[in-house]
Amino acid sequence: MRMYDMIYKKREGQELTQEEINFFINQYTEGSIPDYQVSAMLMAIYFRGMSKKETYYLTEAMRFSGDVIDLSEIEGIKVDKHSTGGVGDTTTLVVGPLVASCGVPVAKMSGRGLGHTGGTIDKLESIPGFHVELSIEQFIHTVNRVKLAVVGQSGHLAPADKKLYALRDVTATVDNIELIASSIMSKKLAAGSNAIILDVKIGNGAFMKTLDEGIKLAKEMVNIGNYANRETIALLTSMEQPLGNAVGNALEVKEAIDTLNNNGPEDLEELCIHLASYMLLMSKKTNSIDEGIKITTQKLKSGEAFAKFKEFIQAQGGDISVIDDTTKLPQAKYITKIKSISAGYIQGIKTNEIGLAALTLGAGRENKAASIDLSAGLQMHKKIGDQVSIGDTIATIHTNKKESIEQACNMILNALEFSKGSIPKPKLIQAIVSKDEIKIL
Ligand code: URA
Ligand code: CA
Repeated sequence: MRMYDMIYKKREGQELTQEEINFFINQYTEGSIPDYQVSAMLMAIYFRGMSKKETYYLTEAMRFSGDVIDLSEIEGIKVDKHSTGGVGDTTTLVVGPLVASCGVPVAKMSGRGLGHTGGTIDKLESIPGFHVELSIEQFIHTVNRVKLAVVGQSGHLAPADKKLYALRDVTATVDNIELIASSIMSKKLAAGSNAIILDVKIGNGAFMKTLDEGIKLAKEMVNIGNYANRETIALLTSMEQPLGNAVGNALEVKEAIDTLNNNGPEDLEELCIHLASYMLLMSKKTNSIDEGIKITTQKLKSGEAFAKFKEFIQAQGGDISVIDDTTKLPQAKYITKIKSISAGYIQGIKTNEIGLAALTLGAGRENKAASIDLSAGLQMHKKIGDQVSIGDTIATIHTNKKESIEQACNMILNALEFSKGSIPKPKLIQAIVSKDEIKIL
């Protein structure tokens, strides 16, 4: 087999075989095919697309390129959750304990943040003492004991995807639906759960800008999951504004704790309850989403989900006194309120700009090697549909970089669009994609 022939075949719009895809992925991972040939292949895929079969074969080749986690020692049906990434998305920290408090195991591998989107692992590190690196044995033991553990993704999970993603990033081939779907699903399948709930973000703060594009991506991923015999369902959820109010690591941990204490933002609570209800259904704990909503709402109200969060933090070495007193979380030196210079109803928020403002304040990584300021970020006090008068506080920024305050302040003010007339709140959950059905809500 020659890489040249495969590039030619794909350029001409023909379908690659499983043997060809395996050859290309295995040889590339080993380093025997040069980046320039793989770049050409990626560009050919970008323009010609891939069939359902090719997409599945690519996913499988990447899934088996490194460690494949065996979770069979964990009792029960394991459901993984994945978010395609957004601004201020704090769901894992709430959904994990919520599902675990219902007795369903959650064995979660999470990533770090890059650019303006956050990562669960960074957030958890704002709790002093918390360990994100457990051996696979400790991980499994903790899930069996506590029903919940969250660890950093092993460095050797889907190494082919890691290499390919880095190449896509510099060859303008990231935003292809089949490539994104196979990239995400290769890691989810390698991580070993029995079923997968996907939170596909749509809107100006997400990869996918429209519901149509989001549904296409969701369908690809659901297809791959089903081919691999893992039940997979996707919720399409709005990223037309940050989720909840907080954007930034310690601030989002506080927001998750508030939510577990029945004192969090409505949109975050709503999404967490729905994601958790799907996880209960997929783990066969419940027979319907409505039943799951009832149970999870009760677990939240009763404080059992909050107690589970504490147990989880303690099991991984974190200082739980921080959970009762969130002023012990990393605190920024400069805390500044931003006042509105416009009046009216908020019509739109440039969510990307809000994410970039948080990055400017120190909350994110400009590149993979950069360090992160866990205390930095912002809180939005007004969201789409809210009425604002001149002088109202619309956001609070937290930073240790005094010189970034003015810039971040301008970014936030410029990110807001106002209307004179009232504006309805955007719908949070917009569609559900499962094996047999696309339901638009
Ligand atoms: N996230 C991934 O893991 N892969 C992609 O291709 C895009 C987003
Ligand atoms: Ca948030």
